[in-house]
Amino acid sequence: MNIIKLDAISSTNDYLKKLMSRQYVENFTIVTAENQTQGKGQMGAVWNVEPGKNLTFSVLVRDFLLDIGEIFNLNRVVAVSIVEALETFQIPDLSIKWPNDIMAGNKKVGGILIENTIKNNGEIFSVVGIGLNVNQKDFSNLPKAASLSVIKGMEFDKQAVFYEIAENLKQNMAAILHKNTLVFLEKYDARLYKKGVPMPFQDLAGKQFMGIIRQVSPTGKLEVIDENEIIRYYDIKEIQMLY
Ligand code: BTN
Repeated sequence: MNIIKLDAISSTNDYLKKLMSRQYVENFTIVTAENQTQGKGQMGAVWNVEPGKNLTFSVLVRDFLLDIGEIFNLNRVVAVSIVEALETFQIPDLSIKWPNDIMAGNKKVGGILIENTIKNNGEIFSVVGIGLNVNQKDFSNLPKAASLSVIKGMEFDKQAVFYEIAENLKQNMAAILHKNTLVFLEKYDARLYKKGVPMPFQDLAGKQFMGIIRQVSPTGKLEVIDENEIIRYYDIKEIQMLY
């Protein structure tokens, strides 16, 4: 593993992408930062966390081929790898909130931002950005979030958590690139947050409804059954979870 450790940077995802545009960067290069000044979240959100306390890093996975419909498998393998790594630290009640929030109980402890570049020959380069709240204590401005430390009431060795995730991710990524995808489909669905529980949703038209998550389709769409027993499939931008 080639690890570039930075003190402060705008965003580890952006740093890695810029580096790739300038020079050859080997597969599974990891960029970590103690502090990000412009950390990016899903769907244009910001990822703001307390400097020094948490894990913010990006991993380059390069030169691989997947059918376009299989791209969600990357999300799956990354989310499952993080959860499996955290299980080794006995974090209780871990789950994955579709598409890729890492939950402990009903608090978000981590998030994933994958930025893919697809070349003309079909090769994919993915910058896999991971933010994990480890030792931050104050979440007064983020009521739906927490850290491992808040959950467990103890301080964590950030580096130990980092290496556990990185090693697990490396192993699992190799499996998925060898088309061993079914196991991650099952592992992801088995850990799906609020699966099988009636919950409130809002669709693109603004209509609110109660629905039950059944599973995530192979291509990554959320399968929800509504009160009228109608099954629908949603992309990330097509549905909001009101919980
Ligand atoms: C989310 O849940 O919204 C995704 C958060 C992803 C944050 C990580 S921190 C390291 C990497 N660099 C970024 O700018 N974002 C990701």
